[in-house]
Amino acid sequence: MNRPHVLVTRAIFPETIERLREHFEVDDNPTDAVLGAGLAPRLQGKQGALTTGSERIDAALLAACPGLRVVANMAVGYNNFDIAACTARGVLATNTPDVLTETTADFGFALMMAGARRMAEGERFLRRGEWKKWSYDMLTGSDVHGATLGILGMGRIGQAIARRGALGFGMKVVYHNRSRLPAAAEAALGARYLTKGELLAQADHLVLVLPYSAESHHAIGAGELAQMKPTATLTNIARGGIVDDAALAVALRDGRIAAAGLDVFEGEPAVHPDLLTLPNVVLTPHIASATVATRRAMAELAADNLIEALTGGVPPSPINPQVLPLRPA
Ligand code: GLV
Repeated sequence: MNRPHVLVTRAIFPETIERLREHFEVDDNPTDAVLGAGLAPRLQGKQGALTTGSERIDAALLAACPGLRVVANMAVGYNNFDIAACTARGVLATNTPDVLTETTADFGFALMMAGARRMAEGERFLRRGEWKKWSYDMLTGSDVHGATLGILGMGRIGQAIARRGALGFGMKVVYHNRSRLPAAAEAALGARYLTKGELLAQADHLVLVLPYSAESHHAIGAGELAQMKPTATLTNIARGGIVDDAALAVALRDGRIAAAGLDVFEGEPAVHPDLLTLPNVVLTPHIASATVATRRAMAELAADNLIEALTGGVPPSPINPQVLPLRPA
């Protein structure tokens, strides 16, 4: 019997590769080279791909790879996929929701706290040997407990951050989202729905957890930053491009907001050079979901999606289920 052929675009856990080999002929990438223009040639003769956010699956790629049936992203975000193009070609796209929610919320909260309490700045100060004495105002930041936590994008991860703030830190939670949560969910989180303008004006700590799309491109730019409190912090664990990084660097430099925490960047892994020079921004390399347990769970869920989709089963997290059942190869 002919087994389907799949590409695993980047290095992942060897155990997951072994599991895929039980079902498929697997072309893997143990050296972890980013494939770039090499992706389409490597996908020839493949029915499935386990991808990461580094691979763009768009109309041109799909046209060049007509045998492709399934693209299983090892990420919850899927702005690297053109879903309309996938659907038009009958290609199933899947992602990895739920398994990373709590881990990502932990990281978002930690990044927010690191900015508010100037932890990275303090560490750099200490390492430079500048800590000579106690001073009443040395590295004073702003409180997290009891402050107003603003969340832009109140999906699963946004709600998990809201729970941490409300239940663990006694924060007032305010949010803005495309659609308002049901009253019971708002009550459980003690969360109040605001317009985006009200959110910007009221948040002491604003955390971005919305998906990236043409609509959310530069959702936070110079105009929005100007509406925030000068004492506020901004944390982005969503996607680069949601924040105008150049405008943020100016706002941080001029003290228009107090601090920022960024795990994602426009054009990453490049980082806007001005951000690298500023003391009041904590910069991390897109690691919000990076615990061993969660990365394993993400790899396994992506593999589950690929296996189920290509063996006639029910993929657990389809993005465009309307293409099921898959057309024959
Ligand atoms: C990470 O950014 C993800 O979307 O899973």
